[in-house]
Amino acid sequence: MRIGVIDSGVGGLTVAHEIMRQLPQEPLMYFGDTARCPYGPRPAEEVRTFTMQMIAHLAQQRMKALVIACNTATAVVLREISQVAPIPIIGVIDPGARTAIKETKSGVIGVIGTEGTIRSGAYEQALKRINPNVKVYSLACPELAPFVEAGISNEREAYEIAQRSLSSFKGVPIDTLILGCTHYPLLSKYIRAVIGEQVKLISSAEETARELSVVLDYKGLLASQNQPAVPLQHKFFVSGNSTVMEQIARTFLNAPLDLEQVNLAN
Ligand code: SIN
Repeated sequence: MRIGVIDSGVGGLTVAHEIMRQLPQEPLMYFGDTARCPYGPRPAEEVRTFTMQMIAHLAQQRMKALVIACNTATAVVLREISQVAPIPIIGVIDPGARTAIKETKSGVIGVIGTEGTIRSGAYEQALKRINPNVKVYSLACPELAPFVEAGISNEREAYEIAQRSLSSFKGVPIDTLILGCTHYPLLSKYIRAVIGEQVKLISSAEETARELSVVLDYKGLLASQNQPAVPLQHKFFVSGNSTVMEQIARTFLNAPLDLEQVNLAN
């Protein structure tokens, strides 16, 4: 059985990439809702409906665990579905918060994300649950995910958008910045150039894959424990345009793309 990974678009490929690296024996199926990305500006109820439609599609193919590789969707549905789902469900917010707490020296942490993620306060709550003494500065960056989703074609524009988006962090004494949207690691070069070398950038991908690996191991669900090694074939689904997905998968994942377009009910 496969591990399901869902995202509003291509950003979750950063998480899929890390799962492939840490768990090379696990076949994945990835759903990117490219027809309706970004989720960030949408009302929570709409994000919930769209996320459930992707999960329903992957559930038909059978999966042994699900990673919600979208911060906005994690903030809206993780708690609700992990209480009732028969398989392990992993989100990206708690793993990102844990990594930031581990890395910060000053206890002053920045979070950037979509409007939906920042409005939910999910990162701030997750950080303060672990350490109530940390100081958290949160900032919505609505321009970044759509820019990635359109394909990063112009370096200068990427830098200018990063600069504009992060301008209100100027002078804020953070030593750690959570990239609270799965699209942002694809812009980390530009974010780093704006925010400075001294600030540690945190992507949830690594810790999310680690959590998945621990949970699968604990539940006896790791592929290596149950199956003989076979050549892996990852499966990709998109609800809309697949061009950027193909571009990123080719350069970033270095994986052949078994890709299918699926219409999700509106
Ligand atoms: C979005 O769909 O707006 C970005 C994805 C995310 O929140 O991680």
